[in-house]
Amino acid sequence: MADEEHTGSLGNWKRSAYCGDLRLADVGRRVTVMGWVSSQRDHGGVIFVDLRDRTGLLQIVLNPSVSAEAAALGRQVRSEYVIAAQGEVVRRSPETINPALPTGEIEVRVSALKVLNTSQPTPFPIDDEAEITETVRLKYRFLDLRRPKMLHNLRLRHRLAARAREYLDRCGLVEVETPVLTRSTPEGARDYLVPSRVNRGCFYALPQSPQLFKQMLMVSGLDRYYQIVRCFRDEDLRADRQPEFTQIDIEMSFVEPQDIFELVEGLLEELVDEAKGLRIPRPFPRLSYAEAMARYGTDRPDTRFGLEIVDLSSCFTGSQFRLFAEALEKGGTVRGILVRGQELSRKELDDLVEFVKLFGAGGLAWIRIGSEGWQSPVVKFLSERERSELGTRLGLRAGDLVLLVADREAVVCDALANVRLRLGERLNLIARERLDFLWVTDFPLVEYSEEERRYVARHHPFTSPMDEDLGKLEREPLAVRAKAYDVVLNGIEIGGGSIRIHRSSLQRRVFQLLGIGEEEARRKFGFLLDALSYGAPPHGGIALGFDRLVMMLVGANSIREVIAFPKTQKAVCLLTEAPGPVEARQLAELGIGLKK
Ligand code: AMO
Ligand code: AMP
Repeated sequence: MADEEHTGSLGNWKRSAYCGDLRLADVGRRVTVMGWVSSQRDHGGVIFVDLRDRTGLLQIVLNPSVSAEAAALGRQVRSEYVIAAQGEVVRRSPETINPALPTGEIEVRVSALKVLNTSQPTPFPIDDEAEITETVRLKYRFLDLRRPKMLHNLRLRHRLAARAREYLDRCGLVEVETPVLTRSTPEGARDYLVPSRVNRGCFYALPQSPQLFKQMLMVSGLDRYYQIVRCFRDEDLRADRQPEFTQIDIEMSFVEPQDIFELVEGLLEELVDEAKGLRIPRPFPRLSYAEAMARYGTDRPDTRFGLEIVDLSSCFTGSQFRLFAEALEKGGTVRGILVRGQELSRKELDDLVEFVKLFGAGGLAWIRIGSEGWQSPVVKFLSERERSELGTRLGLRAGDLVLLVADREAVVCDALANVRLRLGERLNLIARERLDFLWVTDFPLVEYSEEERRYVARHHPFTSPMDEDLGKLEREPLAVRAKAYDVVLNGIEIGGGSIRIHRSSLQRRVFQLLGIGEEEARRKFGFLLDALSYGAPPHGGIALGFDRLVMMLVGANSIREVIAFPKTQKAVCLLTEAPGPVEARQLAELGIGLKK
């Protein structure tokens, strides 16, 4: 017995119930429960302990009249001690029922108690309400995860992964693991590199995605593939980005976008059902990239509220207002948002003017339609015709507010997209409970990178152009649309994919367009070009950002809430303190020297 106390071992005790599962129906059962002390109270010698495990809280009562020994031990336990208790489930007297707890109608009258381990006082209380800085949470992640909400998030994540596997299996997709030590796969971020000891001076890249491997599997005839897979991207981090994250990665042969849409909608339908018990409407709405940009200023619109953007350029041709006229003369645009029946203070309007500057706009012009006329810093510049056209175009009436931005199209879109989101929040227009899924399609194949002074793929270089735009590939590359699509949920891009190029001749043309010469193409993607030349079938796929999806389904506002051991904005793991220095010997073996 003494030894057992020393090691805190279970001896012959076996858990017979989880704390949070016990109910009135269990009254009379003798149970053995185990967990952490959430709180301990001494009521005149009778000790009450709230015992917690991953299922919830259970009150156990240590009464000296039942077991003097257990009560004496119970007096010594503190928060987060690990204990095991044996006893009988009893009904609580009516006045002691706790309606806030699912187990609140019962308690366990303890006849024997074991203290399995002690605990130092924790740096923060283990409950969902505690306000804790994220730095502390991440340093003590093992305690942070002990909080009910975090355990719930991890368990739901598991359920969703399990349900995804079940569904994809049912649809005939085969899970195949692909290498983590591999070559660079361009998804637009920097690679994480791993030096090779055996091949000095050579490096593996960690995959930004399994893109090329899944295409290889299609060439192999696997036909339908999926993988729940870790991807690595060295990029600037934000709330919905991590250096390593998880994708539900999918690829299928002999398919068109419609086949991918159906498969993915079915998958999302299952996952929403698992998380929320809700049925989402299908098919998801579709919006072309051009339409999304025109109406929402972004390719990932939050459609849970209105405030759509309107192109008002035609109202201002030849305007006396220099700013508008200049923007239009330079090929830019004047667009606006109509806000109906909402009061915004002068200060809020001034703040919006400053806000749009964050997105490169020179400013924002506002016009309030009052019952006594138009109020605006710019109204004096507007002609009678401009006013009347604007009025007709927007159907203006007293109480309306118009917000206008003039600039290059990209700047106007970005500024107004952000104004729209900010107003949606501020005016409480966002239907929080809604899940608005939508497809954005018909993306441009390439965009021009001023920085690199070349065309770069918007998705990745393996994305197929649309058949009908193929003729423009060399002549007018910016006008070529791709067979690419994103799936968006409430303004967050949760997935993206495309139909791929499956002929090596077309792949070469696209590499050429992207400024990847024959020699570089051979060096970097020779295996792809080879594979495409040996009977590659038409194929396409998609990858869903699993962390983002889980984040949305648990209603969290950062993916760190649904990743067990995430990294900070600086890509540091505060728990393990990775990345860390390594021994000189290790560097020497790799043939690596560090610059001062
Ligand atoms: P893409 O680069 O669009 O496509 O990535 C797919 C989805 O992964 C999620 N995602 C991220 N999540 C967290 N942290 C990150 N740093 C991060 N980066 C991306 C997003 C995104 O929609 N190989 C292609 C897919 C394909 O063509 O089939 C790919 O990786 O939700
Ligand atoms: P200014 O003549 O520069 O003082 O600008 C007059 C008004 O136009 C101010 O309310 C500015 O916020 C607004 N404004 C400035 N630049 C733009 C722009 N690019 N688009 C719309 N309004 C602007």
